[in-house]
Amino acid sequence: MKKVILGFIAILFLSVQTKADEGMWLPQLLQTLNEKEMRKMGMKLHASDIYNINKGSLKDAIVSLGGFCTAEVISDKGLILTNHHCGFDAIQNHSTLENNYIKNGFWAANNNSELTNPGLFVSFIINIEDFTDQVLRGVSKELSEKDRQAMIEKNIAQIKKEYKKETYQDIIVRSFFDGNKYYLFVTETYKDVRLVGAPPASIGNFGKDTDNWMWPRHTGDFSMFRIYADKNNKPASYSPDNVPYIPKRSLNISLKGLKENDFTMVMGFPGRTNEYLPSYAIKQIMEISNPAKIKIRHQVLDVMGAFMRKDELIKIKYAAKYANIENAYKKWQGELLGLQKSNGIKKKLDYEIEFKKLISNNAEWQNNYGNILDDLSKAYGDLEPLIVSRDYYNEIMPRIELFNLASAFNGLFKTYSNDSASNNKKNQELIEKIEDILKEYDPAVDKKLFATLMDLYIKDQHSEYISPKLLELINEYKDINKVADYIYANSKLTNIESIKKMFENSPMVAMDLIKNDPAFLLYINIYNTYMKETSSYVLDIQAKINRLQRNYMEAQLTVFSNKRFYPDANSTLRVAYGKVKGYAPKDALQYNFYTYMDGIMEKYKPGDYEFDVPQKLIDLYNAKDFGQYGVNGKQPVCFIATNHTTGGNSGSPALDAKGNLVGLNFDRVWEGTMSDINYDPTICRNVMVDIRYVLFIIDKFAGAHHLIEEMKLVRR
Ligand code: ARG
Ligand code: GLU
Repeated sequence: MKKVILGFIAILFLSVQTKADEGMWLPQLLQTLNEKEMRKMGMKLHASDIYNINKGSLKDAIVSLGGFCTAEVISDKGLILTNHHCGFDAIQNHSTLENNYIKNGFWAANNNSELTNPGLFVSFIINIEDFTDQVLRGVSKELSEKDRQAMIEKNIAQIKKEYKKETYQDIIVRSFFDGNKYYLFVTETYKDVRLVGAPPASIGNFGKDTDNWMWPRHTGDFSMFRIYADKNNKPASYSPDNVPYIPKRSLNISLKGLKENDFTMVMGFPGRTNEYLPSYAIKQIMEISNPAKIKIRHQVLDVMGAFMRKDELIKIKYAAKYANIENAYKKWQGELLGLQKSNGIKKKLDYEIEFKKLISNNAEWQNNYGNILDDLSKAYGDLEPLIVSRDYYNEIMPRIELFNLASAFNGLFKTYSNDSASNNKKNQELIEKIEDILKEYDPAVDKKLFATLMDLYIKDQHSEYISPKLLELINEYKDINKVADYIYANSKLTNIESIKKMFENSPMVAMDLIKNDPAFLLYINIYNTYMKETSSYVLDIQAKINRLQRNYMEAQLTVFSNKRFYPDANSTLRVAYGKVKGYAPKDALQYNFYTYMDGIMEKYKPGDYEFDVPQKLIDLYNAKDFGQYGVNGKQPVCFIATNHTTGGNSGSPALDAKGNLVGLNFDRVWEGTMSDINYDPTICRNVMVDIRYVLFIIDKFAGAHHLIEEMKLVRR
């Protein structure tokens, strides 16, 4: 009797767990796991139209952009579409006070005026195969984490050597389900990607930080690039002889728009989620980790923002950094609120009770997984005292460019050998890296960041985690600002010309000088203190947690055998699907699923840093001059749906039931950013810009008709 009741509870529970909407699914498994449900929800395609290795399918139009965003091919001449914020670094790098493309936008009149972006690449996925058995060959449960890792790396190296591929292809092997599964990806990476067009930031980033992670939204968050290939249409590094890439597949664009409850899917490269953690891990994120990181970023943004408001050049130099720091800063706050509101910890605790009940009825499970939650709880307990130190180090150090320079030198010296030719090559690479850092550097901003963050570093941490060298300096100068004065007045790490000369004359003398630089000395001491007092313990405990989490993941896959599982995001190609839907963020408040240009005018604040609107856009609005992109005298701008997405999905295509492009994913709503940890279908929504707004801006606002002509538009 007891068993029957438990079974019933389990089924009830599982029916909750397998709800549609949640999930970032593997394209090669759609047929087995999802096709039926997708078609029931309204999809008119078959799984083989989405992923097919024998003929062109939707996946052949989707690329990973630089490993951090997604883009899609929208013409037969390699034109790709992504977000404004994904192309922002490129837009910023081409901007000067005279030619400010951030402020004014950029539109290449023809192929010759498209702008090259060294370092930027796009990757296509050719093929995905299950390689779990091959990767785990000879790997037994008894192996230590270190030996296990070594064995896996050896196996992967062997697989890469033996796998038959074309010379222009790459092989990537990735772990899924915390090391319970491994898939192999054949990829093709194009390294000549040129900037074609971007609206002014007042459109591409309309609403900036105030609107970021928020609904209702009115941002035209798009930019366009073009993939170039060699004469054989194959990947090649930049060359003026390269030609526009001819894709296997490009997306058709629908002008029809979507209605509430219409099917929609998003394909792209989501970066990282943590859906299968135990409750203690979530508790630590909520109570310790997120608050620590938020506190630091708050200070960083205050410092940068104050300088940026006063100085136009600093504003250009720091724009991308500021936006990145602000983005996660705000997201973590939303995540905290969302986890509270959706009872994230309670849900996990219920899940864990259910898990324990299920295993208690099965001797084998009890034997394999009986202690797993207690062991995890203990390991997270061991980690707890180290979290602030770990997160402070990781948040503070990269924000201080002087330390980034010191770190780069330190890395260089570690790799010096007796071979002077190889040393010289490394010196050259380092100089390029320094020049890159200095492009987005201002000494006054950096010094203020140093003083502010070192102050927190000292005040918020237990003494054993603090660098003795920094304490000495404080002792000597009495005040952190004076320490900053001393360091920044005496360090030569930013003096690029003299560093170049020193390297030319004698690298060994240069090394000696740099090793005695006050910024370098302080950096090394902070670094060593961290390695000794924090990192060594964290790595040990983390190895333990990884092992337990792998076992816990295996247990979840085994015990909840009726549940459909999707693996956590890991920057590999995924498909999320759901329906266009509004939501209720609060009692008595209901959000609509579409926004229109009327909302832009409601938010318009002339001259404002976030809500200014270009005059031309106002004129088009007043004249209702929306061309073929408006509907009943209104211009749609953004919409939301229940697709499960995360960072990295930016720039992903939003597709309709037939696989036509209808929008561009760029954000999630404030109440639902906790979907990385705990997806809740009632409040988790992804935010997309309507493709008709994108085309309206290209066509009517920018007058770039030649780009529209390249595309395939589907009207009725
Ligand atoms: N929140 C979006 C994402 O995670 C957009 C970020 C860009 N916009 C911004 N104001 N920082 O990438
Ligand atoms: N803006 C995010 C990105 O850059 C997408 C929003 C999200 O995190 O869902 O990928």
